[in-house]
Amino acid sequence: MIHYKNREEIELMRKSALLVSATLEEVAKTLKPGMTTLDVDRLADQFIRDNGAVPSFKDYRGYPKSTCISVNDEVVHGIPNAYVLQDGDIVSVDVGVYLNGFHGDSAYTFAIGNVKAEVLQLMAATKSALYRGIEKAVAGNRVGDIAFAIQEYAEKERGYGVVRELVGHGVGKHLHEDPQVPNYGKRGSGPILKEGLVIAIEPMVNLGSKDVAYMDDGWTVATRDEQPSVHYEHTVAVMKGKADVLSSFAGIERAEKENTALNSSY
Ligand code: MF3
Ligand code: CO
Repeated sequence: MIHYKNREEIELMRKSALLVSATLEEVAKTLKPGMTTLDVDRLADQFIRDNGAVPSFKDYRGYPKSTCISVNDEVVHGIPNAYVLQDGDIVSVDVGVYLNGFHGDSAYTFAIGNVKAEVLQLMAATKSALYRGIEKAVAGNRVGDIAFAIQEYAEKERGYGVVRELVGHGVGKHLHEDPQVPNYGKRGSGPILKEGLVIAIEPMVNLGSKDVAYMDDGWTVATRDEQPSVHYEHTVAVMKGKADVLSSFAGIERAEKENTALNSSY
């Protein structure tokens, strides 16, 4: 069942989504080689709670931590652990918060120091693919129009592999609501988009093959060919004419540029 949000509910969801963005900005300011992914999780958890919210992922279907942190060939749902981030790594940080009755959900992939040019290009392309999808999140279109736009750009135009097994989703009072929002599909297919539908659009794009495997921890998804994977996600409200992106990358991108530990020394 699809839940449509009224204007007040969308403004509450904007607050939730922007708290997710502020959390990712905090991560962008602090991230550096030598930190463990568990350090990053603790920082995010504390920031979310200091702001009067609860991390959405903690205890969701038994998930043990507050964020998902996926490094290099890990696609999504990496469990924060003692892994020490190193120069040359890419790290996807996925954050959800529950605030005033609504969830916000957003993810961002960071480069730590000297990351290979082909991987930096994959990151830029995945972010572009997300925005190609967002452009289609307008009333009257269908879910398949978003899916097609993402796949067309990432696979046809750029030659990357789009992950099939995991999809975007409706978001609201629950972290995962209908409809599913795949990152691949046919134009004009799937449920119709109406004003007030709020969805998380979240392409996961692989440098090599689209194929993924599940790790023994029961959560972590990684590429089968062990090549890098990138994940960006926004919480987006469907509107007439133009989507309303409730989360924001602006502060994250600013912090990312200003954080010298993230920038290459070439
Ligand atoms: N952000 C993820 C998603 O978009 C949710 C992580 S699953 C959890 O679906 F179990 F970690 F919460
Ligand atoms: Co999501």
